[in-house]
Order: sequence, then structure tokens, then C-alpha cells
Amino acid sequence: MGLKDIRGVPTSTDSQASLDRLEEALKLAIIMRGDPVAVLDKALEAEPGFVLGLCLRAEMQLLTTERARVPQVARDVEMAEALTGTANERERGHIAAIRAWLEGDMEKATECWEAVLLDYPRDLVALFCAHMTDFFLGEAPQMRDRISRALRGWDADTPGYGYVLGMYAFSLEEAGDFARGEDYGRKAVELNPKDVYAIHAVAHVMEMQGRQEDGINWMTERQADWAVGCGFAIHLWWHTAMYYLDLEQYDRVFEIYENGIRHSADGISLEELDAASMLWRLNLLGVDVSDRWSELADRWEPSAEDTYYAFNDMHAMMAFAGAGRDMAAAKLLAATASYVTERGGTNAQMTKDVGIPICRALLAFSREDYDAVVDLLQPIRYKSNVFGGSYAQRDVIALTLIEAAIRAGRFSLAHALLAERTALKETSPMTWKLMARTLDGLGDRPGADNARGRAESLLAGVRPTVRDNTGLRDNPVFIPGGCLL
Ligand SMILES: [Fe+2]
Repeated sequence: MGLKDIRGVPTSTDSQASLDRLEEALKLAIIMRGDPVAVLDKALEAEPGFVLGLCLRAEMQLLTTERARVPQVARDVEMAEALTGTANERERGHIAAIRAWLEGDMEKATECWEAVLLDYPRDLVALFCAHMTDFFLGEAPQMRDRISRALRGWDADTPGYGYVLGMYAFSLEEAGDFARGEDYGRKAVELNPKDVYAIHAVAHVMEMQGRQEDGINWMTERQADWAVGCGFAIHLWWHTAMYYLDLEQYDRVFEIYENGIRHSADGISLEELDAASMLWRLNLLGVDVSDRWSELADRWEPSAEDTYYAFNDMHAMMAFAGAGRDMAAAKLLAATASYVTERGGTNAQMTKDVGIPICRALLAFSREDYDAVVDLLQPIRYKSNVFGGSYAQRDVIALTLIEAAIRAGRFSLAHALLAERTALKETSPMTWKLMARTLDGLGDRPGADNARGRAESLLAGVRPTVRDNTGLRDNPVFIPGGCLL
């Protein structure tokens, strides 16, 4: 017969204990605390034929976007497929989604989860997985609308409602609806103060709007809710550091890097992505990062040829280019080229369209071939969403292009790019400093002085009222959606 889960969605298990563990694991995955896989391991020890448990365990591993997880996913989906006869329709949809992703078709995976959601909009497992995969695909409108569609089946009394609002908040932000994104994010945090995903959504709004002071205060006031026992803390420290970076408070950036971003127990990719991303930004600004590149490249090197998700490859290349690891960079480029020619599917297309040009551009930047950087990045700047990540994360591509244009003496281009940037984020001191350098290059001294003056007045006006405490941190165990956001 099978029981229904806590939201009334049918399952094929007759064990309430299995469903309770599934719910616990799902909640841990969404709030990014503890070890949902370990919880599912226990459920599957007690009920080896627990189809939904096998599915969620495989899905959690897939969402890390790490190649090393693939064998476990394959084992779980094979076991689940062997149980197809006892699985219900919903569960067969999950199995199909996992199989599609394993075969390299992430879009098809989202279609399979969506087919489940059409009948069961309260299937929070399907919604969470599809939401995260939309993010990996850079499908911001789809990400927003998928949550809207599912919400037709939810109300404030549905267990997990607040978490769906948190997903909606981030989706709205990524779709450019900052006001509603902030509104929903704040509502979600009111419902669940430890909803780090919703805290993160509001942090994104503040980043996109150049609200550095608001951002620092927002993160600081909630630090006890996100900085301890949470696998997402590294990324939230990264966001906090981003505000300080714009304010030229590099000592604070390094302090956060050392205590909040860098140290990790087990080489989690999220840490390596955020670390690379922050060091590259510092590099663009001409800030000496000393031997941090070398240390980071050491962590990336063992997986130099593990290309599996183009967005991760970009960050690996930052580390190799920053550290001058030519051999590792060459291995990565060769692996990406082989992936494109030998494999089909979503990641092959992402790698071909944007992954390889961006990796080559990063390498060219490190070799001071700034014209090559411009020529590689300019044609793909409006396509880079196809390899996922957030606007805030992908902004490193725009910054690299601008810096390369300035260093190549292509000041007209830099000026045009900065006109875009100041229009979108007029309270960013960093952007006005870039504008000042560009106008210097164009020989416009009054314009440069004006831009510099705007930067200085913004810097003088920003005074975060609460100091955060970087010491509040511990080591996460597992991060679903490991490379995001
Ligand atoms: Fe983020």
C-alpha cells in the first residue's frame, strides 16, 4: 500500500520510521547542517528496499556536482531501478531523474522532477532537487517559475513552507526581482531563523544592489544562526568578505579568508570554489595574496583532470593560473577538450560554450596577455549563465574582462563596460575606482577625479554598526549543492 509523507505525498514504504528519517535527512539537506547521507544510511540499513531513501541519497550526492560521488550514485540508482516494480509513480520519476543526470542530461533530470511536481507539487524532495539543478543550469526564470508553480499546492501550514519561501527568495533575486526577493527572504527567516538559504538570498540582494553596510549588518546580526554547525557557512563568509572587498577593507577580507573560508576538514569543493573566487578578485585588484595561491592549487591539483562541471573547472583554473601551475592548467584544458569531444550532454555543451573560453582567458590573464583575455571573454559575456552559478559568482568574469581591458589599454571598451556597471551598482566604491583608472587612461582628468571622489565619499559614508566575529565557525560534514551559490 505505502504510507504518505508528512506533506501527504504517497510513497511505497510501509515504514513510518523510514519516512521520519527521510524527512530528517531532507531537512538537514535544506538547512545544510549535519549529515543527511548518514541519516539515510541508517534508514536504508533498516529498510534496504526503501526506494525514496535510495533516491534521496543519490540526489544528495548528485547535487554536490563532484565526480567522486558518481559511483555511489550509480549504485543507489541501480538498486532503486531494481525495485521499480514496487516503486510508485512518484518514485519512478525520481529514479528517471537520477538516471538522466547520470547519463549527462541535467535538463532531462529537471523535466523528470517537474513531471512529479505536476501531480505532487508538495514533493519537497523533487522541488529541492529541481531548484538546485535549475541553479546549476543558470536557468533563473525557470528557477523562479518552478517555485511559483509548486507553491499552488502549499500554504502556510504545510510542513517546510518556510523553506520553499527561502528558495523562492533566492530565485526571485537571481531573476532580478530584488525587492520581492528580499521580502520573501526576510519572511522565510522570520519563520525559520536558521534557514541559511533564505539568509543567503537576502545577502545576494544586498550584494547585487551594492548595499555593503546593510549586507555586513545583515550577516553579522544573524551570525549565530549560520556560522556554527552549518555546511553553508563558508559560502556565507565569502559573501561577507565580498562586502568588505568592495570597501577596500582587505585586512578584514584576509581575516575572513583565513578563518572562515580557507580551513576545511575534508577538501569540500565549496571551500575551494569560494577561496579561488576571492583570491582571484584580490588578484584583479592588485592585492598581494602571498602564498595562498600555492596552497589552494595544491588542493585542486589532484582533481585537475576530473572535469565534471564547467563551473567548477573555472575555479580550478583560477587556482592553477594564480599559482603559475602550468602543468596542471594544461591538464585541465586537455581534460575539458576531451570531455567535449568524447562526451555528450549538458556539461559538454557548457564546457564548449563558456567553460573552455573562460579557462583560457584566466590563463591568458596570468600570462599578462590582456588582449587575449578581452577577445576570449567579450563574445561570451552574455552566455556565461549557461554554466550556472549566481550572478554574484559570475561577476568575476565581468571584473576580469574590465581589468584586462584597462591593462590592455582598451579604455573605450573599459569605459563602456563600467558605464553598464555603475548604472547597475552605483554605490560600489570598487567600480568607481575602476572608472577613475579608465578615465585616467582616456585622458579625462576631471572625470577621473570625479569618479575617484565618488568612490572616496562612498567609502567615507559606510560604517557597519556591528562587528562580526570570524571565530564563530566549525567544520561542516556535508554540503548538498556543494559548489553553489
Ligand atoms: Fe551566494
